[in-house]
Amino acid sequence: MRLAGKVAVVTGGGSGIGRGIALAMAREGADVVIPDIQVQNAERVGAEVRALGRKVAAMKTDVTSAADVKAMVDRTRETFGKIDILVNNAGIAAPPGMPFTNNTEEDWDRTFAVNTKSVFLTCKAIAPHFIERKAGRIINIASIAGPLAAVTMPAYSVAKQGVITFTRVVAKELAQHRVTVNAICPGVLWTDFWQKLAAHLAETNPAFKGMTARQVFEKRVADIVPMKAEQHPEDIGAAAVFLASDEARYITGQALMVDGGCVMW
Ligand SMILES: NC(=O)c1ccc[n+]([C@@H]2O[C@H](COP(=O)([O-])OP(=O)(O)OC[C@H]3O[C@@H](n4cnc5c(N)ncnc54)[C@H](O)[C@@H]3O)[C@@H](O)[C@H]2O)c1
Repeated sequence: MRLAGKVAVVTGGGSGIGRGIALAMAREGADVVIPDIQVQNAERVGAEVRALGRKVAAMKTDVTSAADVKAMVDRTRETFGKIDILVNNAGIAAPPGMPFTNNTEEDWDRTFAVNTKSVFLTCKAIAPHFIERKAGRIINIASIAGPLAAVTMPAYSVAKQGVITFTRVVAKELAQHRVTVNAICPGVLWTDFWQKLAAHLAETNPAFKGMTARQVFEKRVADIVPMKAEQHPEDIGAAAVFLASDEARYITGQALMVDGGCVMW
């Protein structure tokens, strides 16, 4: 019960990694807010959180909209009275595409809006609350695609490296207020995100011709993961619980790879 009495906001918590983080935090005693653009999914995960005995609020939020983010923060504070933990998890892979000269301006704008601008919007909306309370944890879900400079998904790769740099910027700014800000970089997980990405790679990349989406994913794990084993949302949930817990109170400005050894630095 390392998060007993805490209130955690997990954006994009309606599926995949976000669901894993929401459930891991609920198991450790946190009440959970799930803002997601797919509200039915948020409600489904909300029911799972409630079944663990925690309070929950699932709401439709587009994290690329400043107005939606403000409404989400206001509603959370009215309902729960405070926020202790912000997990910026919402993100998209699409549309991938190599070489980068095939990318469009719209690809880059959309990818940055969902993966990077959203982190700025939520941090901006919640920082005054954390500063006032002299407490708070921000955990940004970046990706190994940032440090690896992934040629298969140029815009995404740059957007996630941007999340890592923004994590450091906000960590420096808020350290004096006892607020910690860290990133987690997941490796390769079989969520909706990778299922769509693998299907796209199978269709468009000659290296994966004739393979099913699952075969593309398994080849990716075999090629780039030194542990040669699949990871799961629970692995990211466990890391997020640690960074949100009292044990991690002196850790800030870090990017923690949870990736079976893909990135070692
Ligand atoms: N799956 C992987 O291999 C992997 C690896 C590294 C990083 N990540 C990152 O992990 C995070 C979660 O990805 P996932 O694999 O669970 O994918 P997912 O597609 O299962 O989940 C993403 C969630 O974000 C929500 N979302 C998307 N756009 C949104 C918006 N504009 N506003 C609010 N919610 C929105 C979706 O509805 C969904 O619930 C993402 O940031 C992703 O970039 C995933």
